[in-house]
Amino acid sequence: TRPLKVALLGCGVVGSEVARLMTTHADDLAARIGAPVELAGVAVRRPQKVREGIAPELVTTDATALVSRGDIDVVVEVIGGIEPARTLITTAFEHGASVVSANKALLAEDGATLYEAAEKHGRDLYFEAAVAGAIPLIRPLRESLAGDKVNRVLGIVNGTTNFILDKMERSGAGYSEALDEATALGYAEADPTADVEGFDAAAKAAILAGIAFHTRVRLDDVHREGITEVTAADMVSAQRMGCTVKLLAICERAADGRSVTARVHPAMIPLSHPLASVREAYNAVFVEAEAAGRLMFYGPGAGGSPTASAVLGDLVAVCRNKLAEATGPGESAYTQLPVSHMGDV
Ligand code: HSE
Repeated sequence: TRPLKVALLGCGVVGSEVARLMTTHADDLAARIGAPVELAGVAVRRPQKVREGIAPELVTTDATALVSRGDIDVVVEVIGGIEPARTLITTAFEHGASVVSANKALLAEDGATLYEAAEKHGRDLYFEAAVAGAIPLIRPLRESLAGDKVNRVLGIVNGTTNFILDKMERSGAGYSEALDEATALGYAEADPTADVEGFDAAAKAAILAGIAFHTRVRLDDVHREGITEVTAADMVSAQRMGCTVKLLAICERAADGRSVTARVHPAMIPLSHPLASVREAYNAVFVEAEAAGRLMFYGPGAGGSPTASAVLGDLVAVCRNKLAEATGPGESAYTQLPVSHMGDV
């Protein structure tokens, strides 16, 4: 069987780990997919940077040329941000590639454009890595629970802020000291504002609400409050009340099923609640579905390796679909429900 060709867009914390795993797990990947996967090109901004394990001739600064080559089977997009990622992804679809993306900002801002482009060209768009790192959530919602009716998705979906709040709670550390540590560990976004002001969690809430309730929810639809106002004193008074403070994302379908809400804000959680024991950069998400009941998903929600694990899982699925000349679940079937902010209800 011919090797499947993969183009990697971005080679930072996640991208370099994806490339490394593609090499070290090459035999297993080939066995699971039914064909070898080959890294055909890596688009980066700074080509001079030494990248261990990546042949220099694969490195290019021309991402557009790479995705337009016509022989690429799968494009893995881990550059983040809206542009040029959006144009590169749609160009990849036009030139025959399916796409695995970890880009929560783009999916939350303009998922509709990507979903439509994928469908128009008959390609896959998988994005497990966009929400909660290694934790399988997107595929359970799109596939395992596709026959059920999800009414609520609630939990901790940002590792950096959980790390900071946990650190403040356990050691009394100051906010900036805890943030520096989260950044050093590779959890925080390039600009940590996205984490601490709740934009990252709100983007994930928008993506989760959209796929859970089969509607379109955008970042702007999500009520958002970050953790920058949470003080050491708040933490102490929460503890006196037998509680802790967590940044929660809450997506709900209204009881009459006619609207949805999505919001992100710090919340007091009783210490006896399972979410209170989510430490460091771990994430935990409850999914409540009519027939399934209450499911809990828990695990590492940030960091290069866990996120790369989700990317690789998607890569296997998309490669299998390619070989079968099929596509996985799409997002074309939806009903637009009104999305209300918490403040509106
Ligand atoms: N900055 C994000 C987080 C990375 O801390 O959760 C994973 O999306």
